[in-house]
Amino acid sequence: MQKLTAVILVGGPGTRLQPLTDDKPKSVLPVLNRPFMEHTIAYLRQYGVEDIILTLSYLPDAIRGYLGDGSRYGVRLTYCLEKEPLGTAGAVKNAGAYLDNTFIVLNGDIFTDMNLADMLAFHREKKAKATISLSWVDNPSAFGVVETDSEKRVKRFIEKPPLSEAATNWINAGIYILEPEILEHIPSNTHYMFERGLFPRLLGMGAPVYGYPYRGYWMDMGTPEKYFSLNVGLLLSTVTGPLISISEQNGIYYSQYAVIHPTAVIMAPVMIDGGSRIGQGVRIKGPVVIGRDCRLEDGASIENAVLWDNVSIGAGARLRQCVVSSNTTIGGNQDVINCVVTPSQTVPLFRP
Ligand code: GTP
Repeated sequence: MQKLTAVILVGGPGTRLQPLTDDKPKSVLPVLNRPFMEHTIAYLRQYGVEDIILTLSYLPDAIRGYLGDGSRYGVRLTYCLEKEPLGTAGAVKNAGAYLDNTFIVLNGDIFTDMNLADMLAFHREKKAKATISLSWVDNPSAFGVVETDSEKRVKRFIEKPPLSEAATNWINAGIYILEPEILEHIPSNTHYMFERGLFPRLLGMGAPVYGYPYRGYWMDMGTPEKYFSLNVGLLLSTVTGPLISISEQNGIYYSQYAVIHPTAVIMAPVMIDGGSRIGQGVRIKGPVVIGRDCRLEDGASIENAVLWDNVSIGAGARLRQCVVSSNTTIGGNQDVINCVVTPSQTVPLFRP
C-alpha cells in the first residue's frame, strides 16, 4: 500500500470514559493491559502507515506522556494541539501543514479489523475526494447514518435518526480516506465537524463522496459496556488485532512477574500482568484481564472481569462481569456482580 499519513482524532469532549476514569483519556485506557492507542498504532502500522498525527485538546500530556515520539512502535508521532476543541474536521485542518497527499483520518475511540488497503483501492477506483467507512449496526439511532446509491456514492447524512426514520443501518464508522483538496473547504481556527459540516458541504458541491461498507468487527469504545465487550471479545477471539498473539487468545497468559499460588484454579482465557499476586484457592474463570500489581486474596473468585492496575480483591470475595478501575479495593466476602467499580463508586455495568 502506498505510504499514507494518518490523523487520529483524540480530542473530543467525551475523552474520559465516565465513571471509570477522570484523569485518563479513553485512548490510553488499558485494552488487554496495553493502552488502547497502541492497538490503533499497530493497526495502522500493519498497512505501512508510519507517520501519524494525533490531534489533541483534552488531557494532552496524558497521551504524549504514554506514547512519546512513537519510535517504540516503529512510527513517527506528531502532536497537534488545540487550545479549544476545533471539532473533528477543524482538528484535521489544524494538522493541514502535514497533509499534502491522500491521507487517512480515524476517530480515536474505534477498534476494527477493517482492511485499510482494500478501502484505499476502493477510494482510488471511485476517484473519490472523500471515502467514509461504513459499519452495519442493528440500531443506528445513536449514530450518524449514511445513505448511499447503488454505486456506493453518498446521497445523504442523517445524524442520530429515530429508529423508525433510519433509511439504512449503515453508519459512519469513523475512518475516512481524504484528498488534501478537501482541506480548502474547512474553515481555519473554527469549530467544524465532518458529519454536520464538511461532508454535507462536499455533497452540496457535487464532490464525489463515497461510502465503503464493512461488515466485520467494529466497536466504538464510548461506554464502559463497550469497553468491557472489547476486552472480552479480544480474549475470546471474536475479534483479532495485530497486538494480540495466539497465546493471549483462548489461552492463559501471565507475566513472569506475576505470583500465582499453586492451588489457584485458572480457566482460560486469562491475562495476568506483572507484579500481581494470586492467592491460595483463588478461582479465575476467563475471560478475565488482570493488570499490574493486583492482589487476589485467598479464596477470591472472579469471572468475566477486567481489572486495571493495583486492584485488591479481599479474601472470599466474588466478582462477576465487572470492570474495576485502578487503585480500587474490594473487601473480603463481598459479592460484586455486573458492576463498574472505582475507588469512589460502584455502578451497574450493563443496564437492562
Ligand atoms: P467523544 O464522545 O467526544 O469521544 O466523541 P464521539 O465518539 O461521540 O464522536 P465525535 O464524532 O464527537 O468524535 C469522534 C472522534 O473525534 C472521537 O475520537 C473524539 O475524541 C474526536 N473529537 C471530537 N471532537 C474533537 C475535537 O474538537 N478535537 C479533536 N482533536 N478531536 C475531536
